[in-house]
Amino acid sequence: MAEKPQSSDDKLQQEFNRWAAAGEGEKMEHHHLDITEKTIRLMDLRPGERVLDLGCGSGWATRLVARMVSDAPEGFGQVVGLDVSDEMVRQARAASTDFENILYVWGSAQQIPWEENFFDKVLSVESFYYYPDQERALAELFRVMAPRGRLFILINLYKDNPYSLQWVDKLEVPVQVRSEAEYIELLKRHAFEKVETRRIPDDTPTPDDYVTKSFRSLEDLRAFKRTGALLLIASKPDLRVPAPGYTIY
Ligand SMILES: C[S@@+](CC[C@H](N)C(=O)[O-])C[C@H]1O[C@@H](n2cnc3c(N)ncnc32)[C@H](O)[C@@H]1O
Repeated sequence: MAEKPQSSDDKLQQEFNRWAAAGEGEKMEHHHLDITEKTIRLMDLRPGERVLDLGCGSGWATRLVARMVSDAPEGFGQVVGLDVSDEMVRQARAASTDFENILYVWGSAQQIPWEENFFDKVLSVESFYYYPDQERALAELFRVMAPRGRLFILINLYKDNPYSLQWVDKLEVPVQVRSEAEYIELLKRHAFEKVETRRIPDDTPTPDDYVTKSFRSLEDLRAFKRTGALLLIASKPDLRVPAPGYTIY
């Protein structure tokens, strides 16, 4: 019998399982911590909130968020970490056994296995540009976010940071390369409101003996960090508010 052709999600799963097996899941904490902490501060997380960490990898950011939403008089805030790599999910679960308010789910951003109108906040760190169909992922995010829910997507690889484009050819899976203006247009087209962007520089020092395979030189790596990641922020409209009444004359 002919083998079933691999879907784009199968390919992403295979590639990121390989990353997980090579220990990249944990290493990414080191690479993304500075920009993620700055983003988490902007998220204004409150105890009791329900948060989705989309493309959670080994779950280190999921655990940071889980601590911040845990205790509320009306109960625990919950965090769901979702990833297309079952190996990343396995590692994330193994590292989170002390947490009662985290659930890791294996699945794709293209078809989020969750109910409508649920999440107060969404964080996604360095994952969104891998999605083959970003339009569909945004439609899915819109569906699972609560009315007035807030979305925070961090993107290190985008047109306006030319240094980031040095890795495109080194990656084993295709990526989406858009500009800040194109992302703003995309979010608005998907009915998100209060769309804004920030640049989040990575302020960690790069030592002179640091070895990089991703950049042509340490100077390029430093310039990449200075230019910073693109943070997309947007809200789902409050669909519960009825349309204003009108008068028939
Ligand atoms: C560069 S890693 C970042 C992981 C984590 N957010 C971090 O900062 O350590 C990208 C992650 O996105 C996940 N990913 C890629 N495509 C995905 C998709 N379609 N749905 C869900 N997760 C996806 C990968 O499996 C991987 O864990």
